[in-house]
Amino acid sequence: MKEFKAASRLNRIAPYLFAEIDRKKNALRKKGVNLIDLSIGDPDIPAPEKVVNTLYRSAKIKDNQKYALDQGKDSLRESIQKWFKKRFSVVLDKDGEILPLIGSKEGLVHLGLSFLDSGQYVIVPSPGYPGYRGAAYFSGARIHELPLLAKKHFLPDFSKIPLVVRNKAKIIYLNYPHNPTTALAPESFLKELVKFCLKYGIIIAYDNAYSEIYFDKKPKSILQIKGAKEIAIEFHSFSKTFCLTGFRIGWACGNRSLIKGLLKVKINTDSGVFGAIQDAASYALDKEAAYVRELRGIIKGRKDLFVRGLEVKGFKDVYSESTFYVWARIPSDVKSSVDFAKVLLAKGIVVTPGVGFGKYGEGFIRFALTVNKEKLNQALSLL
Ligand SMILES: Cc1ncc(COP(=O)(O)O)c(C=O)c1O
Repeated sequence: MKEFKAASRLNRIAPYLFAEIDRKKNALRKKGVNLIDLSIGDPDIPAPEKVVNTLYRSAKIKDNQKYALDQGKDSLRESIQKWFKKRFSVVLDKDGEILPLIGSKEGLVHLGLSFLDSGQYVIVPSPGYPGYRGAAYFSGARIHELPLLAKKHFLPDFSKIPLVVRNKAKIIYLNYPHNPTTALAPESFLKELVKFCLKYGIIIAYDNAYSEIYFDKKPKSILQIKGAKEIAIEFHSFSKTFCLTGFRIGWACGNRSLIKGLLKVKINTDSGVFGAIQDAASYALDKEAAYVRELRGIIKGRKDLFVRGLEVKGFKDVYSESTFYVWARIPSDVKSSVDFAKVLLAKGIVVTPGVGFGKYGEGFIRFALTVNKEKLNQALSLL
């Protein structure tokens, strides 16, 4: 078989972190080792039954079996509009300020293709969700890593961004509630972010995938901040809020020209979200608030149990302010997060090494609480 050389843009992409962990994990499983997998943010909790039933019913409707409209169904954009107004008191124009996506990751990456030219800078959080780097890799843009440090509550310091980067930056990706550190952003920080980006003409790509996975303080939307619609696009996901990761649906909302640019790439790339999935998503937003409340309760129970357990085991600096992750400093006698992840894998626990989220994630590991309390107790006993 002839081996083809891939396009040079692919050379910039490091092996997808979770794929590598998956391979090692599968090799152990093949050997019959029973693993507790706390590595991927894919909840074990079933999706709302009525949402699944809606999908099933809607799949039989002929119109849904055809190509979906690029902009998504009116009915879904209406549900998003209503939900957004109720949740954040922000009014969105359903025709120009909302765009359904095939999962938020798709939109986060396609935004880069829509707005980045080669040589421009993308500012990404470190540690941060690896998808943002994809936007830079595919568009030939340069990456500036923004350190998120524990001593600064995992919020970036804009004054440390070099002038050359500020002037050549086109997009800044930020995400609170934050994966992986679990940090929330106070309103004062969001105001500072909007002010900074208005000054330098930088697009804010605000990833709010975990907006509903909170415990005490309710996360904000960037669009609640005065002036944000001038420069911001916000991404939402059904994956975490309704445990619908496999359905592949999310949305972008905010600045009209950003929505329009993103739509242009999508029109030339995909042909919309399957209509029945759009109907199921509408149902979730319209009717499943109680499910989300219950989900938060389940995650809080797991988090309290696991954090207590880690502290008893002597872990220092354990963070769990929001999301279903726990971000914990590795023991001082272990050299790196990868080494520690290997130690835990040998004990039967799969975690994600912090360095996989960027170099400032080194020294930490991330536990995803996507298994039940019994398994979490089992994991604690193995630590
Ligand atoms: C911070 C963050 N953003 C976006 C996503 C992508 O979510 P989806 O594409 O399933 O909507 C994830 C998934 O883990 C995430 O952690």
